[in-house]
Order: sequence, then C-alpha cells, then structure tokens
Amino acid sequence: MTQAQDQLKQDSAEAALKYVLAKTSYDAIVGIGTGSTVNYFIDALAASKNRIGGTVASSEASAQRLRGHGIEVFDLNEVDEVAIYVDGADEINPRLEMIKGGGGALTREKIIAAVAREFVCIADGSKWVDHLGRFPLPVEVIPMARGYVWRQLLKLGARPVWREGVITDNGNIIIDAHDFYPIGSARTMEEQINNIVGVVTNGLFALRPADLLLLARDGSVEPVVAKTT
Ligand code: 5RP
Repeated sequence: MTQAQDQLKQDSAEAALKYVLAKTSYDAIVGIGTGSTVNYFIDALAASKNRIGGTVASSEASAQRLRGHGIEVFDLNEVDEVAIYVDGADEINPRLEMIKGGGGALTREKIIAAVAREFVCIADGSKWVDHLGRFPLPVEVIPMARGYVWRQLLKLGARPVWREGVITDNGNIIIDAHDFYPIGSARTMEEQINNIVGVVTNGLFALRPADLLLLARDGSVEPVVAKTT
C-alpha cells in the first residue's frame, strides 16, 4: 500500500467520523467493521468515545483495538439496535454492492450490516469498480464441508483457493473464489453461494448493500449514494 493510498483511507475514515457524530445521539451504538481503513476510523473515534453509547465489533481484532482506546464494546446480543455501521470494502460498485472479507471477517460483518439502520462504507478510490469480481470472492466454510463446497464452486465456474492457515473468529475456514469477474447479478450470486450446504456466508454484500459510500480520491472525499438503474 502506498503512502498516498493510506492517506486516502484516513481521509475517508475521518469524514465518516464527522458523519457519524452528526447523525447519532449520545446513546447510539455504532457498528465497527474490520480492516486498515476501519482502523483509522477506530483511532479517530477515540477522541469522541464519550459522544456515543458504545460499539459492537465485527472481529476480535477490531474489538481489541477499540478496547485499547478505552472504547466500550458490547456483545451484539446485549444491544437493541445499531444506529450506524462503518466498514471498508475490497470492491464496491455504483449500486453500492460490495465484495468484502479480504480480512476474513465477512460473517460478523454481514450480521452487523443486517442489524444496522444505516451502513456507511469507507474506501479509497482503488476499491471503486464498475463490475465486481476481480477481487477473489471470500467464502466462509464449515471445515468438514471444504471438499464439497470446493466442488460446488468449481461447478459455478470459479477457481477456488483455500486460504491455508486462516481460521476465522467463528472457527471456520475461508475459500477464495477466483475468476468470477464480471459478476452479473451480485444478488443472485450471493444467494446461490449461500445456498451451498456448508457455506456460512460469502463476501458479496448485495442483498444488503451500503447506504452511503465516502469515497476518497484525488484529495477529497465524495459522498456517493446508490445508483438504482
Ligand atoms: C475485512 C473486510 C475489509 O473491509 C476489507 O478487506 C477492506 O480492508 P482494508 O480497509 O484493509 O482495505 O471486508 O473482512
């Protein structure tokens, strides 16, 4: 990652903090994603930790970073609602559908995204694509189903690659499905892969896309809402 890209991630994260503080009340629970862009958000949130009710985290890594800053982290089952969820993406298209899970946290990310009233994606320009699928699609799989899921992904036209040595926070494995580019209907593919027995979830976020993208490029942060056509 270049220094310039790092700066863009930070710009997007800081814009998200301003947005979150403007939109939430003092008791609001903020959902926190996972990854290097979100790490900038967590670090920026530290100075405003008393301005929110607390957080829920999409990974053990994010929870640890939040607690390191003295920011309260609740179990998702302890909270009634999540006002806003802030997370990065590996790819995002004009419909604000995403591929996520490069960091392996896709399942918990998808759960918090489902609960949250609003999903704000933070990203630098390298994540913006016309069509999803160049980034290998992460699929979280129950370990005993690895061979079966592998064969089903082959049948769907993918080139599966086992992310060897990686165990998710949920105790499962990740298979990265290469060669799906260009993905036509991301919603259909999300459902199709989730229907394979043994798949916990896949990294397509199309059934629940982002509501807002804060896209940092060329030194400014542009708010982008979904194009519906
Ligand atoms: C982790 C994710 C991340 O949001 C995605 O990988 C982007 O990460 P980064 O901000 O480091 O580029 O889905 O599972």
